[in-house]
Amino acid sequence: MNSANAVTSNVLDEMFTLADFEAAAPRRMSSMAWEYLSSGAADETTLRWNRESFDKIKLNPRVLKDVSSLDTRVGVFGQTLAFPIILAPVGLQRLYHPDGEIAAVKGAAQANATYLISSYSTTPLEDIASATDGQKWMQIYLQPDREFTRDVVQRAEAGGVKAFCVTVDLPVIGVRNRMDRARFAVPPEMSCPHMMENFTGSPITWADVEWLRSITKLPVILKGILNPDDAELAVKNGLDGIIVSNHGARDLDTTPATIEALPRVAERVDDRITVLMDGGIRRGTDVLKALALGAKAVLIGRPFCFGLAAGGADGVAKVTDILRCEFEKAMALTGRTSIASIDGSVIWTD
Ligand SMILES: Cc1cc2nc3c(=O)[nH]c(=O)nc-3n(C[C@H](O)[C@H](O)[C@H](O)COP(=O)(O)O)c2cc1C
Repeated sequence: MNSANAVTSNVLDEMFTLADFEAAAPRRMSSMAWEYLSSGAADETTLRWNRESFDKIKLNPRVLKDVSSLDTRVGVFGQTLAFPIILAPVGLQRLYHPDGEIAAVKGAAQANATYLISSYSTTPLEDIASATDGQKWMQIYLQPDREFTRDVVQRAEAGGVKAFCVTVDLPVIGVRNRMDRARFAVPPEMSCPHMMENFTGSPITWADVEWLRSITKLPVILKGILNPDDAELAVKNGLDGIIVSNHGARDLDTTPATIEALPRVAERVDDRITVLMDGGIRRGTDVLKALALGAKAVLIGRPFCFGLAAGGADGVAKVTDILRCEFEKAMALTGRTSIASIDGSVIWTD
């Protein structure tokens, strides 16, 4: 082991929870990067709610069940995930580690998790796609220039991505006071090759989503649904799935926590299409709660970037492994041995 690896493994040896990674992260990146990664919109009310709402939900344990063998596999969009945790699209990963997206996608593959390539990546998607054999999806911000978007879509398909995820909750960029105060700017040595210059949001409508569906045969998922009426339209418009998300509480402050919105959306969708969720997942019990309340799988954003900062690919893999292991324990302690057996009765009702 060379000395750099030894240092990394010492750092990772001290990490037992995702909160440990979060506590260490600000010391491992520039203050501007930390403000970008950790902040939320405006007063960060929704950012707090994304966490607090999970903590308010109680679990209902079961005992004396045979939980000696657990099956965490779940089918989504004709693919099998080994466990229901996906790495969310997060922009500018070279801010957190010099190897950025390449280290992150390698960490995802080490942990056997799907990696969602962000449109805001600082690395060309071909390099990310060829870095590992692991499963990847691609997130798209539809750009005013459709030919630009078409090119990104075609390159992602050629790179072997298995689904597209269109982010629909950013017609304008939210009020981001902490980033403003930090005078946030993408460092001049970094570029975002899948974005047009001067991105100020993706002000798209259902017609643009329909256009994207017309140019690809891959599954198309909408990311950023909170309102059941929009979920209904996603079903009617033939989408393959939706992600209940408030963009990590970075857009519109005082929207509900995603775990609060999830049951209403899931009820309306009624299994007609796949529902995923993200926002505030920090413990295996959070994953269990999200599945009990209607999600097929969850995504994590900031936590894997804390791992990236702490230890590159190994840090990303360790964050994912910790969450997976905690989730398996939560399954066993509520007497569940398969994903299908995680239903509403996992939740304690007063
Ligand atoms: C720093 C940062 C950058 C993000 N960049 C993107 C992005 O490029 N595209 C996107 O669809 N979502 C983006 N998101 C939102 C995440 O995909 C995800 O919805 C969110 O981080 C989930 O919440 P969590 O961080 O609490 O896990 C970003 C989030 C963060 C924190």
